[in-house]
Amino acid sequence: MYVIYDYNLIKKRLNYEVLKANWNRSIWRYEDLLPISSLKYIPPVQIGWTPLYKAEKLGQEAGIANLYIKDEGRNPSASLKDRASAVVMARALELKEKVVATASTGNAASSLACLTGSSELKTVIFVPETAPQAKVAQLLVFGAVVIMVKGTYDDAFDLCLRACSEYGWYNRSTGYNPFTREGKKTCAFEICEQLEWETPDKVFAPVGDGNIISGIWKGFVEFHRLGIIEKLPQMAAVQAENSNAVKRAFDSGGEIHPVSGNTIADSISVSMPRDGMAALMALRDSKGFAVSVTDQEIIQAIPQIARGSNVFAEPAAAATYAGLKKALKEGKVNANESVVLLITGNGLKDIQSAMKSVSKPFIIKPDINSLKKLLSDNKIM
Ligand SMILES: Cc1ncc(COP(=O)(O)O)c(C=O)c1O
Repeated sequence: MYVIYDYNLIKKRLNYEVLKANWNRSIWRYEDLLPISSLKYIPPVQIGWTPLYKAEKLGQEAGIANLYIKDEGRNPSASLKDRASAVVMARALELKEKVVATASTGNAASSLACLTGSSELKTVIFVPETAPQAKVAQLLVFGAVVIMVKGTYDDAFDLCLRACSEYGWYNRSTGYNPFTREGKKTCAFEICEQLEWETPDKVFAPVGDGNIISGIWKGFVEFHRLGIIEKLPQMAAVQAENSNAVKRAFDSGGEIHPVSGNTIADSISVSMPRDGMAALMALRDSKGFAVSVTDQEIIQAIPQIARGSNVFAEPAAAATYAGLKKALKEGKVNANESVVLLITGNGLKDIQSAMKSVSKPFIIKPDINSLKKLLSDNKIM
């Protein structure tokens, strides 16, 4: 399902001047383009208006003069998913729903749990039992009912769907609920504004189900349709090598078939993408492309991004930089183009994977001689 607005009407109220004068620095500044009738039920924490950094050092290392990092880890639950959960939550409360459920690899769930934490909505979460501990901790702290499924994300998704039809719960699951895309598109609106109404040439998004990339694309298309931007970017989908159903379908021009979905990047570990068709449309319509990267390349990208841009990315988010390097090698990006990497989730969400990307710390006795010996033995400083 695809949400359509009366763009002719919105054009009369929303334009460059109106946006410039708007003091609201959150996704709600785009209220006219969101599927809610008022701001009565929005969560009481700031969603969106995350920083867009020009990553000079990382750009030099990659060989790109204009490289930008959109730091989505700065959202309340530390991922881009907060944009979607906030809209879905407001929508559920407007519809007088009592229970909202979601299947998730981890972030959609932790964001829904976080944003509904102080509301009257009950939240039921289905996650694979392999979900990283930090994400599970978030779920429990915010008071969600957490059901860990002995199986994959795909199994959790099917069970959530069944449970919602059995008990009448409101289903937030990605690729099922059409309003998640509406929240995610606000990230594209912000990129346009933060680049002072210029469109980047390429936007790299990590892809699991395909909802983020299709949401971001919808955002650019809507701003273009309203005459707020003049040009559209090309979308670049980055997938993990064994979780690359969208890339396979895009490259072959055929249908999406399930893959193993096995990757260290838990957020993009998906066998059968639930919003794969929309992801393919975003790639085709934007004349974009897809790349896949190995787990090793993803892990290496975590400290590279951190040291090149000061931002700590979780594995799925770090995949964007690994994907950019691959795309450069494959001639899909030119050095003089402007590129935005969507850093969709914060690295603290999965420190076990981050620790695989770095060496161990030194351990010494608390005295100066031990320190001197350490520094000289290891030729540090
Ligand atoms: C941090 C992060 N990056 C990327 C993705 C992939 O998004 P999608 O499944 O919409 O393709 C997710 C989804 O859980 C995520 O949490």
